[in-house]
Amino acid sequence: MTGAATGIGAAITERLAGQGMHLVLVARDGTRLEAEAKRLHAEHGAQVSTLALDLSHQGAPSRLAEWLAGSGIEVDVLVNNAGVSLMGPVADTDAARVRGLIDLNAGAVAELTTLLLPPMVARRRGAIVNIASTGAYAPAPYVAAYAASKAFVLSFTQAVWAETRRTGVRVVAVSPGPTDTAMNTRRMPGKRGPGSVADTVMSALRGRGPAIVDGRLNTFQTFVFGRVLPASAAARIAERSLRKAALGN
Ligand SMILES: NC(=O)c1ccc[n+]([C@@H]2O[C@H](COP(=O)([O-])OP(=O)(O)OC[C@H]3O[C@@H](n4cnc5c(N)ncnc54)[C@H](OP(=O)(O)O)[C@@H]3O)[C@@H](O)[C@H]2O)c1
Repeated sequence: MTGAATGIGAAITERLAGQGMHLVLVARDGTRLEAEAKRLHAEHGAQVSTLALDLSHQGAPSRLAEWLAGSGIEVDVLVNNAGVSLMGPVADTDAARVRGLIDLNAGAVAELTTLLLPPMVARRRGAIVNIASTGAYAPAPYVAAYAASKAFVLSFTQAVWAETRRTGVRVVAVSPGPTDTAMNTRRMPGKRGPGSVADTVMSALRGRGPAIVDGRLNTFQTFVFGRVLPASAAARIAERSLRKAALGN
């Protein structure tokens, strides 16, 4: 479980611990991970390991895979949840931060999936849940790199789903819409709680399709913006609705 101690990741972790799973929590803040591990053990009796790691760094996913192998841990369920967002016009954004976002949101997801999938296929069981976003379905001005990174996650996951359909391994992308976490503190209509996303993840694990959107309104919106409208119209409408949040006018 990456990005495990806060927000959506913490809610998913809670559900998995409640099902009696042993957990490996990964994020940068080791102290917070340790506290969460202690709590999960006390409340659910879960066996929890932690690894403090910046997954945007080159080679970090390999380090995680090596650490798992060295600890004798076989991963049954990988949840790629760690992610960051950047808001603002691309022209005003620090290029290194754009690169860091892509390395984490897209690069680490693809690399961890690629590293941890083969043993699952060999065992003919396991699951990989990649957390995308409703932003994956259409271009999103002022969060351009974020939405593009999530479009990568969605497309990559759908393709791996098709490759692994007959292997006994479940691969699925889950796309939350606006969710009340540290990443998104803005007041917005239709905002959902991290618990709703965690419930959708649990049902995605039991389901069959390659991708699921959290919530009916979000599902409808991704259909309209991703399938009905041409990308140019979707981008123009999104530019108008995101302009105030990004520029304040
Ligand atoms: N909130 C929303 O509205 C929303 C909507 C759609 C999709 N999502 C997606 O949901 C996922 C979870 O986000 P959230 O809303 O729950 O926000 P969050 O509370 O900020 O969670 C992000 C998590 O990622 C970890 N993380 C950040 N950078 C990392 C790095 N370089 N290496 C390793 N771990 C890192 C953070 O822990 P550390 O700081 O300790 O590293 C944190 O636990 C993200 O992929 C996000 O894109 C969120």
